[in-house]
Amino acid sequence: MKINIISVVPDLLQSPFAHSILKRANEKGLLQINIINLRDYTTYARAQVDDYAFGGGAGMVLMIEPLVNAIESLQKETTYDEVIYLTPDGKTFDQKMANTLSLKNNLLLICGHYKGIDQRVRDHFITKEISIGDYVLSGGELAAAVLADAIGRLIPGVLNDETSALTDSFQDNLLAPPVYTRPVDFRGWKVPDILVSGNHKLIDEWRHEQAIKHTMEKRPDLMND
Ligand code: ADE
Repeated sequence: MKINIISVVPDLLQSPFAHSILKRANEKGLLQINIINLRDYTTYARAQVDDYAFGGGAGMVLMIEPLVNAIESLQKETTYDEVIYLTPDGKTFDQKMANTLSLKNNLLLICGHYKGIDQRVRDHFITKEISIGDYVLSGGELAAAVLADAIGRLIPGVLNDETSALTDSFQDNLLAPPVYTRPVDFRGWKVPDILVSGNHKLIDEWRHEQAIKHTMEKRPDLMND
């Protein structure tokens, strides 16, 4: 899969993909992430990419020309399955969306900044608008990193043990059960006996029961989805 991300602060996006699972996904050739600097696509002086909003009011707006130059130039090279704008007024991102997007080949993510992007870009180029939660970030970069991480780890072969994404929280609308590792006894706080019993059928049943209990206690809303 290829994920291209258009940003005015590309440096913000270097670190999230340079470590751990996503770095390995890149080395294995399973996930290629390219960060595109919007300023490389402006024809305005001093690499200007934003301007005042028509009608007045505080805050700058990302201009249409640099964005369209960038999008169209990338679209000449690649057909994108989705052109996604990260915005607090988009549809709230969840595991279901991550699963669906992980099946695509090419995604183009657009990070807004300041007051957002010119509405005409949204009207004519964007195929999906996604928010990562009901709060406002300074820009779409952290949201784009969240999407790329959640999607990237679902690509077959990215996680060493392929079943481990299937047992994540939110798959099956259940939170994950509790997990333990060595030592079995720390200050008298013991790991549940069943987990060290070696009986895998009983362990699976216990984990499922715990997942249900955990979800009812912490996120009962998920059970009704
Ligand atoms: N840009 C600013 N806030 C955002 C949010 N909550 N989700 C996605 N993109 C954003």
